[in-house]
Amino acid sequence: MKLFIDSGNIKDIETLAALGIIDGVTTNPSLLAKEPGDYRDNLKRICQIVKGPVSGEVTATDFAGMLQQGHDVAKIDAHMVVKVPLTREGIKACKALSGEGIRVNVTLCFSAAQALLAAKAGASYISPFVGRLDDIATNGMGLIREIVDIYDNYDFKTEVLVASCRHPIHVVESARMGADVATCPPAVIDQMFNHPLTNIGLEKFLKDWEKSQAVKA
Ligand code: E4P
Repeated sequence: MKLFIDSGNIKDIETLAALGIIDGVTTNPSLLAKEPGDYRDNLKRICQIVKGPVSGEVTATDFAGMLQQGHDVAKIDAHMVVKVPLTREGIKACKALSGEGIRVNVTLCFSAAQALLAAKAGASYISPFVGRLDDIATNGMGLIREIVDIYDNYDFKTEVLVASCRHPIHVVESARMGADVATCPPAVIDQMFNHPLTNIGLEKFLKDWEKSQAVKA
């Protein structure tokens, strides 16, 4: 399963990319709005750091506006993926941009029916938001199961990109279900490293080693 960073913060992306385990980045207007500088320059820099798919979202809500912004986003760098919302206009824009060979990530997906529409429109990625579903007492991971099953039934090429991940369990469950990608805020990727037995075990190994060296000295 691919692991993407869900952030527009250059420093965080640089730090995590240096680990060598990051496959791509997703951004959204809320994330980019928090960062200083021009968003196009920031997206370009992110592409140079990660050298994998980087999603940049349109803010237009009409078909023509989405197409125009989609072309602008795609021109930033060859790694750019155009993100469009799962609306009627967004699905039309997805079909048109995908037809031109531009990769599209359809975002704000909250149902299997919506995911089916995105696949039919040729989306490269569908982004179901599991955390926001959990927030309203609906099982976010249940939606991932449904989408993976549906896409497998028809061999759709659209990749299931699990979004709005709030903790490592979302990532582990995504991998168990065969989702293609999980995109996580930097804090969730950090949490994935943590296990108290790793820290305790390492501390003991190092202490034992130090003791043995002291005896030999
Ligand atoms: C995905 O592409 C979105 O940027 C993101 O995962 C939204 O997550 P949130 O619900 O934590 O804002």
